[in-house]
Amino acid sequence: MKKILAYTVPVLLCLAIGAIGSYIQTPAIRVWYPTLVKSPLTPPAIVFPIAWTILYIMIGLSIGRLIAIGDMSIVRLWIFQLLVNFLWIIAFFALRSPILGLITILILDVLVFAYTIYAFSSDHIAGWLFVPYMLWLIFATYLTGYIYLNNTSTATLSAANRVDKVIATESKTTYLDMPTLPYSTDAFEPTLSQESFDYHYGKHLKGYVDNLNRLIVGTPYEGMRLEDVVQQADGALFNNAAQVLNHELFFENITPYMVDIPPRLRSAIIRDFGSIEQFKKEFSSAATSLFGSGWVWLVEDREGKLSILTTTNANTPITQGLNPILVLDVWEHAYYIDYRNRRADFVKQWWDIVDWPRANSRLKQ
Ligand SMILES: [Fe+2]
Repeated sequence: MKKILAYTVPVLLCLAIGAIGSYIQTPAIRVWYPTLVKSPLTPPAIVFPIAWTILYIMIGLSIGRLIAIGDMSIVRLWIFQLLVNFLWIIAFFALRSPILGLITILILDVLVFAYTIYAFSSDHIAGWLFVPYMLWLIFATYLTGYIYLNNTSTATLSAANRVDKVIATESKTTYLDMPTLPYSTDAFEPTLSQESFDYHYGKHLKGYVDNLNRLIVGTPYEGMRLEDVVQQADGALFNNAAQVLNHELFFENITPYMVDIPPRLRSAIIRDFGSIEQFKKEFSSAATSLFGSGWVWLVEDREGKLSILTTTNANTPITQGLNPILVLDVWEHAYYIDYRNRRADFVKQWWDIVDWPRANSRLKQ
């Protein structure tokens, strides 16, 4: 009985911590760290819970084995390591601080390495059971470091302790939930008012999300990623899916904080437009002269060259094989609350709220 408990308690504890961690991580990853989920190399979402479950069971079995053979001194190190693991999840995904995340995961690396060495010296099987987790942790450390270097705006936000407004979803069975916003919707006054968000985000975008969820039922697109639906669908389904995707990019691409253009994006813009000022001038001109409803984009082609593109209605550069770096919504619903019909004023003010680090993180070349 004691032997069974020695295995089951650590396994259940590990699974519980893994489940809590996933619950905290999932909404954060989607909005705050899009580089993690929009990579063409990212496997289907179902792979992660399965892989993590296996990893956490193996950790639990490793510690269970050491407890079963009576090596109790390992328990303290293991509990300490679990606590630091949990701290990393809190720092990186709940507080959304890449620097704190990086510090905690480096401490965790040391502890896990120490545990693995200890486990090997005590029992080889316990050591091997822990190796997959150590490899995963090395990969997670690389990702955390990558985010720290490329996603500096998230650090700014978390430093200010902003809490995003999580819109409750109506049903877990819908194809797509409303995207969460990585800022408070009253943080952009006077450039964009709370009322503007209430309409643009709360009514217009919600309308597209609701339509998409209604139209997609029973179609072959139901299990697809939004990007794939946009690539393959047509008619009303395309219009609503593309509008959701375009709006996600638009709302992700603004920040209430003044942020500099990271060096990588800055040099790419200067290389392809001559100067930042010239780029802004051409982009603003495209935005103000676009007839009717549409979008203005900074896009990257397969060779890494940047250019400005305008699309009408719901059309998006993704269907042209181009990578969107920055987008401005010039549908009238984007500015009519605060700027009435003065699109040029809206475009001028929008430059002050562009999240340049976010745009920088989308560069592929
Ligand atoms: Fe819009």
